[in-house]
Amino acid sequence: MDRLNGSPRLMIVSDLDHTMVDHHDPENLSLLKFNALWEADYRHDSLLVFSTGRSPTLYKQLRKEKPMLTPDITIMSVGTEITYGDSMVPDDGWEQFLNQKWDKNIVVEEASKFPELTFQSDTEQRPHKVSFYVEKGKAQEVMKALSERLKKHGLDVKIIYSGGMDLDILPQGAGKGQALAYLLKKFKAEGKPPKNTLACGDSGNDAELFSIPDVHGVMVANAMEELLHWHAENAKNNPHIIHATERCAGGIIEAIGHFKLGPSVSPRDVKDFSECKVEHFHPGHEVVKFYLCYERWRRGEVENSQHFLQNLKAVFYPSGILVHPSGVECSLHSCIDAMGSCYGDKQGKQFRIWTDRVSCAQIGSDIWLVKFDKWELSDEKRQGCLSTVLLSTKGSTSSEGPIWMHVHQTWSDGSGLKDQTGWLF
Ligand code: GLC
Ligand code: MG
Repeated sequence: MDRLNGSPRLMIVSDLDHTMVDHHDPENLSLLKFNALWEADYRHDSLLVFSTGRSPTLYKQLRKEKPMLTPDITIMSVGTEITYGDSMVPDDGWEQFLNQKWDKNIVVEEASKFPELTFQSDTEQRPHKVSFYVEKGKAQEVMKALSERLKKHGLDVKIIYSGGMDLDILPQGAGKGQALAYLLKKFKAEGKPPKNTLACGDSGNDAELFSIPDVHGVMVANAMEELLHWHAENAKNNPHIIHATERCAGGIIEAIGHFKLGPSVSPRDVKDFSECKVEHFHPGHEVVKFYLCYERWRRGEVENSQHFLQNLKAVFYPSGILVHPSGVECSLHSCIDAMGSCYGDKQGKQFRIWTDRVSCAQIGSDIWLVKFDKWELSDEKRQGCLSTVLLSTKGSTSSEGPIWMHVHQTWSDGSGLKDQTGWLF
């Protein structure tokens, strides 16, 4: 991607439901851990790719429900739609390619003749994907008969059974694996192949991801029988694929460590930041760390001490200013003072902070401009702001990291009139 000058250090290609997102974890802890690790250590030189069976409609819905990061590339509708960047620009070349030996009308007509098949909702029927529900016991038989009928029409299709109930019909050249192969080929042609790629999944439509050459794979602990069965039949002795012991995003972090692909300790798992001095100062790390400290303070998860606040205050420039999203200004030091009375005010309540799209530019020999989205989830209410922070290493003793000079925030949706009660940073 244009964002990176050279080859990405790591490209993660992850399924969403029950892989990146754990629907059995209302607190979303493993996802938040992954987010912190990615923004602190990978965002600046790596690529995040989400590969989901969901259509754009259901994908966008999930993003509203869960604290998900913004990926660099989104592959939707079981590898039939590829889009780039925050604005999700479609890859038209890929769509053109999928038109080969594909006729959606014939697929719909023939599949409608099978009473065992029930159409999924309209949002999930896409130009290169026709989707149904079918009972587990009937799936294999229907797939066989249907593919024979479509062959007679001269179509070359791929039928995938997932999640013990979903049946997708796609062009033969489509699918999550083919979409990944297409991206890898494209990056190679541009002279920027990823140094490492990690594919992550839990169900039938993810199996293809694990058969692409030079790709590490993780089946998360909660992977479904259909994927484990595929693995046992096709890739049992492949050391590049593991079945993690951790669920969902926890399994992804585990695989990063297992394959030694880079840092694999989430800042959320670091209790005391003073004990983990990073070898190379990275602005993204500082931002993630600060907001975690702030979250822990308000949740009452750190010791209530003047020492903790003094340490935080020491990283803020004495005459630095914070411009709140509403436009109100206050000195950085008075923000820290205000924190004093908020200790534990979110204890036992829902209160989480995460950062997304952290980007850094060095604008002087010792000064960095860091931009990111900051999200706060508090009692079911989610608010986001775009933040810009000036960090400087000048004047700070080398062991203590950078000083925050200035913080500027604006509401993500451009409105200036939101309730700012309890919003400190
Ligand atoms: C998602 C899609 C659905 C598809 C399934 C399996 O749930 O919404 O249409 O059948 O993934 O690929
Ligand atoms: Mg899944």
